[in-house]
Amino acid sequence: LGNRSTGKMGFAIAEEARRRGASVTLVTGPTYLAEPAGVRVNRVETAQEMRDAVLGSADGADAIVMSAAVADFRPEQPVPGKLKKEDGVPEIRLEPTPDILRELGSGKGDRVLVGFAAETDALETSGRKKLEGKNLDLVVVNRVGAPGTGFGSDTDEAMILARDGQDEPLRTWTKRELAAAVLDRVAKLLA
Ligand code: CTP
Repeated sequence: LGNRSTGKMGFAIAEEARRRGASVTLVTGPTYLAEPAGVRVNRVETAQEMRDAVLGSADGADAIVMSAAVADFRPEQPVPGKLKKEDGVPEIRLEPTPDILRELGSGKGDRVLVGFAAETDALETSGRKKLEGKNLDLVVVNRVGAPGTGFGSDTDEAMILARDGQDEPLRTWTKRELAAAVLDRVAKLLA
């Protein structure tokens, strides 16, 4: 189970935060992207490993941005070896992965928390639901499914929804512009 996320958004945020002088830990799944200079990189492969790595660095963090497209489900019983075809079509039962952002939101404290949402329709309603449900300060709602935007592309069609109501309407951004806009808001909230 996977998706075509490349990590470009997370890397853009880490790079921009570093450029602004932040001390940055980048927790990333498998990607071909080059590591940004001056950033601590923690590589993980599963949702559980990502949860442990993020929660492990959360204590000292002023802000956490969760742009990872974490798989929502995983096989209940991973098979260590190979599934042989002659054994027939396998039935794979799934179970939910830990929702990292929800866990962060439930022990939020003073930390600024930013989530991402990939949606095909009802962008604002779905985004607002995540903002409130996961106890976030900001959520970036990405419109996915349209050509040239979303996973793997360099531009996104996105809106920023804020707990304080200072929303940014839907428009096309480069991932770099979007990273800068998110961090402008994070800096304001921290101030
Ligand atoms: N997220 C997370 N842990 C997960 C799944 C998602 O921390 N196991 C984070 C993502 O990094 C993102 C946000 O939660 O910042 C939104 O993820 P999404 O999958 O869109 O939200 P869900 O609550 O799973 O809702 P949906 O039913 O729309 O998938």
